[in-house]
Amino acid sequence: NPGPPPGPLADPGLKLVNDAAHPYQAPRPHLDHRGPCPGLNTLANHGYLPRSGIATPAQIVQAVMEGFNMENTFAKFVTYAAFLVDGNPITNLMSIGGKTWRTGIIEPPPPATVGGLNTPAMFEGDASLTRGDFYFGDNHSFNQTLFDQFVEYSNIHGGGFYNLESAAELRYRRIQQSFATNPEMSFVSPRWFVAYAESMFPILFFVDGRNHDGPWSNLTMDTAESFFKDEKFPDDFHRAPAPFSFEGLGYLVTSRPMPPGRNVGGAGNYIPDPNSADLNSFCKISMNCDPLFVSNIVRALVYASNDVVRAKKTIRREVTIGERGGTKGAWGQCSYAAC
Ligand code: HEM
Ligand code: MG
Repeated sequence: NPGPPPGPLADPGLKLVNDAAHPYQAPRPHLDHRGPCPGLNTLANHGYLPRSGIATPAQIVQAVMEGFNMENTFAKFVTYAAFLVDGNPITNLMSIGGKTWRTGIIEPPPPATVGGLNTPAMFEGDASLTRGDFYFGDNHSFNQTLFDQFVEYSNIHGGGFYNLESAAELRYRRIQQSFATNPEMSFVSPRWFVAYAESMFPILFFVDGRNHDGPWSNLTMDTAESFFKDEKFPDDFHRAPAPFSFEGLGYLVTSRPMPPGRNVGGAGNYIPDPNSADLNSFCKISMNCDPLFVSNIVRALVYASNDVVRAKKTIRREVTIGERGGTKGAWGQCSYAAC
């Protein structure tokens, strides 16, 4: 029993978080997992999360509160939504990057998945700010061309800052780019909500708490580069001065409206999806999520639990081989059947 998730911080105020107890260390190649989320990658690089990138949901909730002052209820909502589709409820572990035996079995009977946050069309999705669409090959690594566009839009629309204005324009631009070029582009709930929320995260969480103005904060390009590219707290970085969640999301949605939809039959053939939840029909989100999040994936994973004992033995063997520098294969590249 993993126990209840962490409650709110006892002292959720301004705090130096790039402190001596949390030094930056680059992830170790082939050992530490990093993925599509610059926030979680940064927390792992500073030891707020296990540096391996393999964490329990409780560790993630605690780390996003400690390191960035994400509000407790929202942190739990985001973490457990991702965990249900990308994590392993039996071992209570999730990779913040790619699929790995270190979270338990990696090929449970379909439709269950335990692929980590890199898994496309689960929690990760299209039209990300600084990562490409899965259709183009890499949905999780920092993409310099997209970051250049982030800087360009911040200069044109935000007076040199990433703020509400530039975030609204860039969110819209990334959706248009994906629709125009990616024949498999999908932008329906829950991705629709996640994309708008993530566009607010750099404003709410990457701005130093000493210069914070809630959703009206201005993110400098140096600080943006530190988080998105280096996945590192800037020197002397202080977290937000109070808990935040997705404040400002409504402004992004309404200033540049884009109804949920997807390309059907090729790039540029955008078909709105009236069945997808949006801001006017938030309750539909349970319809969009339930068959995927709970009924299918979690249940199938539980049925797979008979295989867990066998899987645990295999993991132990793989870890031993990996730590000895053996040649059995890089993390996550070995299929369940093959092992
Ligand atoms: C993106 C997971 C918390 C900042 C993502 C993505 C995932 C993810 C899967 C990729 C989605 C996509 O764009 O395709 C999570 C989980 C969290 C969490 C499970 C647990 C609470 C945070 C926090 C921050 C953050 C606390 C900020 C400090 C971002 C940003 C992006 C992102 C800015 C967008 C990256 C981009 O579009 O280039 N997150 N995240 N996340 N996350 Fe997180
Ligand atoms: Mg993405």
